[in-house]
Amino acid sequence: LARLAILLSGRGSNMLALVRATQTGVLKDLAEVAVVFSNRPDAPGLALAAAHGCPVAALPSRGRPRETFDAEAAALLQQYEPDFVVLAGYMRILSSAFIQPFAGRILNIHPADTHQHQGLHAYEWAFDNQLTETKITVHLVDEGLDTGPILAQQPVSLHGAATLAEVERRGLAVEHELYPRTLASLIKNGKMMN
Ligand code: GAR
Repeated sequence: LARLAILLSGRGSNMLALVRATQTGVLKDLAEVAVVFSNRPDAPGLALAAAHGCPVAALPSRGRPRETFDAEAAALLQQYEPDFVVLAGYMRILSSAFIQPFAGRILNIHPADTHQHQGLHAYEWAFDNQLTETKITVHLVDEGLDTGPILAQQPVSLHGAATLAEVERRGLAVEHELYPRTLASLIKNGKMMN
């Protein structure tokens, strides 16, 4: 089984989709959750993970220099021997101190085409610009902001989506399906790099 370290800063709906996929979905017999980690000890997603029986860990990032925090977070995560580090609403830009130990094994999900929109508030961007479609993107993480190689993309129709809440509802439904499926094919294709 591939060992997943799932990282989050907030709600944790993608984390939950991944956990469920390891239990009864496309990741069953392919992956297990080694740890759910947060840079915010009070993140709702961390409590949700614990309630679903996942090992959890937290290290507060507030007020800490980026490189110092990233080195400590990487060291903590390495104790769980993850094959993949799976960012699921982990709202931090990663420095090389974090990326180097897991290079080529860090995944992120972004609620837009990373060639068109980077960073926060991608659903607001799609809504405000009245896009008729956005593309959910799963990509490998490098040191840029949403610049790493794309692993999978799936379009979401935004036709008739009259509110931001509706845009998010449609997008998240695709996120929750695309992320486990992309990870499953990555594992099946033997691209585990350690
Ligand atoms: C998701 O929509 C995810 O794609 C996005 O944050 C949300 C987290 O929700 N990530 C980014 O915007 C990264 N740039 P969740 O905590 O319910 O999974």
